[in-house]
Amino acid sequence: MERISKDIPNTHCEIQSRSIVTLWDIEENREHRFFLSGFDSPIFTSSTSKAEMNIDKLVDKLLFSNFFRIFLKPTVIRLQEMDRVLERLKLGVEGTHYRSRQQKLQTKLELFLRILTAKLSALNDVGSVISRIFDLFQIPRTVLPPYHLKNDAVNLNAALAEMTSEIEYGKTLLIEVQDKLQECQIHLRDYLDERKNGVETIDSTNDFQTNLLSIAELSIDLFVEAELLKTWTDIFGSDIPYFSFDRQLFSYNDSDVFDVTDDVVLAVRGLTKNYNLGKTTVYALRGVNLDIKDGEFVAIVGNSGAGKTTLLNCIAGLDTPDYGVVFFRGRNLHELGDPAKSKSRLLEMGFIFQSYTLLPHFNTRENVALPADLAGLSKDLKDRIENLLEGVGINQQAKQYPATLSGGQMQRVAIARALTNRPAVIFADEPTGDLDSVTGKQVMDLLKKFHEETKTTIVVITHEQDIANYAERRIMMKDGIITPR
Ligand SMILES: Nc1ncnc2c1ncn2[C@@H]1O[C@H](COP(=O)(O)OP(=O)(O)OP(=O)(O)O)[C@@H](O)[C@H]1O
Ligand SMILES: [Mg+2]
Repeated sequence: MERISKDIPNTHCEIQSRSIVTLWDIEENREHRFFLSGFDSPIFTSSTSKAEMNIDKLVDKLLFSNFFRIFLKPTVIRLQEMDRVLERLKLGVEGTHYRSRQQKLQTKLELFLRILTAKLSALNDVGSVISRIFDLFQIPRTVLPPYHLKNDAVNLNAALAEMTSEIEYGKTLLIEVQDKLQECQIHLRDYLDERKNGVETIDSTNDFQTNLLSIAELSIDLFVEAELLKTWTDIFGSDIPYFSFDRQLFSYNDSDVFDVTDDVVLAVRGLTKNYNLGKTTVYALRGVNLDIKDGEFVAIVGNSGAGKTTLLNCIAGLDTPDYGVVFFRGRNLHELGDPAKSKSRLLEMGFIFQSYTLLPHFNTRENVALPADLAGLSKDLKDRIENLLEGVGINQQAKQYPATLSGGQMQRVAIARALTNRPAVIFADEPTGDLDSVTGKQVMDLLKKFHEETKTTIVVITHEQDIANYAERRIMMKDGIITPR
């Protein structure tokens, strides 16, 4: 216990301030017992011996589950309450609209409507924090089952299943709340717009107050709920929680978890990569699991910072993950030595980058021939290089240097170069990022044509839907994990 608490990062302790996980090490029985404060039956016992399981990993996953248990209930309650108040507000502002003939009262009403709108707009970001946290839940859900805990694990698994459906419910609720939030903001903005609403002008102060009483009373509830919801999500700050104190976290050794069929060219399990930036840590990959089949054309899609490039670099052996495994054509890529890894990249992988990365002092043909030269194959490939130049439509520019080519032409050179050694997989990171949309489309058409002709596996990274639509399968990334949507 002492070792565990010492190793837990401070930020983690802060997030977990409401949560307690205790571990007993019961030597004589070769058992471990856990107390998880978030669960209704909070005690669990592991039956496997130390030799068979990594206790640190299990504790980490329990911490994660415990966090969700503690996070879920208040979140769902807050969303339900918010939904209820917004529904009432919606009904209120959908009815008759009033304006006062007395300027003073009218100014007060306008101010009140503006404050209400501002209060609601302050909640616009809350949804994204909650949904990002919801999405992370798939990690404990997929990693806990392999640990065969004792009988009381039945309770744990039941609780996990319950949390899964609670999250689904929470997600639906969140969408409803977000929709109502938008609707109410629009209604409030347009409240006094006579072109959109039948606005009734009232002379008497009393009548005016009576007519607006229900909205005024409701606004108190709204202010309270908005504050509670905001305070609740503010606990998590700008980043979302992460739990890690074990270097082997999320690595997969259990054979029952790592089940890969022969047609899978790339199998990724529990891939994790953190960047330490002084006091803060960027969790670029948070346990990515992915299978890419031989011959697939896949797009990895996600916003800037989602971890797409980090993922690609790790699965192509250009970067080393902190934990997790990458099986490339049946071999554990990161267990290969550097020379073997380089050889695999040269002969089995082709790369296309946003910035083309052509050698400036080599002409088009030389750039395309480069992978073959490096592999000592250029003689056999002479004809092939001419075909490639023609295939991507740059045979006319064979003797030109990169500086004299357009962006589209440079990317064509890069594509031809990626194909030179007949790779098993082509990795393309934002291949159209620096191109205008027409040229970008031509480049994607070229890749698609190549895929149709050769059935080479292609992994394209993009944040543009149009580009992603070229692929047969789209994989969504968000906050370092793959999300179902
Ligand atoms: N060398 C690095 N040092 C520190 N942080 C890094 C490093 N490389 C990436 N990151 C961080 O890791 C996260 C994921 O970055 P990554 O480049 O993988 O995102 P991306 O999805 O490719 O984004 P983009 O669409 O902008 O290219 C980001 O928060 C980024 O700032
Ligand atoms: Mg990137």
